[in-house]
Amino acid sequence: MTASSPPPSEAHDLQAIDMSLKIGDLALANPVGTASGTYGKGLEFQPFYEVGRLGFVVVKTITSEVRPGNPPPRLCEIPGGLVNSIGLPNPGVDAYIETVLPKLRTLGAPVVINIAGHDIDDFAFLAARFAAEDGVDALELNMSCPNVSGGLDFSTDPKVAKDVLVRVRAETDLPLIAKLSPNVTDIRPIGEAAAAGGADAISAINTLVGMPVDWRKQKPVLGRGYGGVSGPCIKPVALRMVRMLFETVDIPIIGIGGIENADDAMEYFVAGAAAIQVGTANYYRPTAALDIVEGLPERIASLGASSLREIIGSIRMP
Ligand SMILES: Cc1cc2nc3c(=O)[nH]c(=O)nc-3n(C[C@H](O)[C@H](O)[C@H](O)COP(=O)(O)O)c2cc1C
Repeated sequence: MTASSPPPSEAHDLQAIDMSLKIGDLALANPVGTASGTYGKGLEFQPFYEVGRLGFVVVKTITSEVRPGNPPPRLCEIPGGLVNSIGLPNPGVDAYIETVLPKLRTLGAPVVINIAGHDIDDFAFLAARFAAEDGVDALELNMSCPNVSGGLDFSTDPKVAKDVLVRVRAETDLPLIAKLSPNVTDIRPIGEAAAAGGADAISAINTLVGMPVDWRKQKPVLGRGYGGVSGPCIKPVALRMVRMLFETVDIPIIGIGGIENADDAMEYFVAGAAAIQVGTANYYRPTAALDIVEGLPERIASLGASSLREIIGSIRMP
């Protein structure tokens, strides 16, 4: 509790719970966003609820060229989650800016454009392209896609991670979010490198590399063999990585992995996340992100706090 916070009894005025935060210069009304690749273009969810009530929307990864994606099957259900090998299908940056971006400007929530370059210059090119457009509130750099050749390289080597950020930072003043891979021995040096390179926040985590197997066919289930594991089954792994990053860097951490309700989100906040993204849950509970926005104030108040800020990282580690 800060000196200016109301005592716990008054904090139960749920309207008064302050859930705002900043990512670089971007002010967000609340910490709940959607995870790239699991929320379509953002537009698909408009029939279900007012998307503008979310803290932010992260769109599917955009690349400089059109990409058809990976061979099917691309998706496999497992207990507690999914394994996907989608492969970043998208129309390419030019078509995207012409056809999709104008519609995103109507969402009402801050729009985070997720980009993936095939090399560092390509990251810089994409950043510059989007920075020149209206309606882009921040960039998330997908440095961690396990489903494209070389996709993991940008967040498995600290030097490369820093180089990507430095190069992109030179192109734009937009808030930059570095999305990291969990497929490393130690995520901390990568987080440090991204922060040193100019990242305003870190998203953790992308999917864990896995391989569902059909033993009868003696083949992997997915067309590409390997895929990315997501959903509730990865949550403890992600929580640990968020905590490790929280103890290492001074920039906000955006927690991602298996979040389907407000209690899951609270686990991330006390572990050290300043914001969260909802991914796989969007497929089976389309209102999950909004439900979390609505469920957070009473949970924050139940800890005797009057703002989200007070509880971030408040877990007592042994
Ligand atoms: C079907 C699917 C597609 C995804 N596509 C992307 C993508 O295009 N870009 C990206 O950065 N992450 C992508 N992700 C990763 C998610 O954004 C998220 O980091 C991961 O799924 C963990 O969160 P979750 O357990 O809540 O799903 C994808 C995940 C899934 C399940």
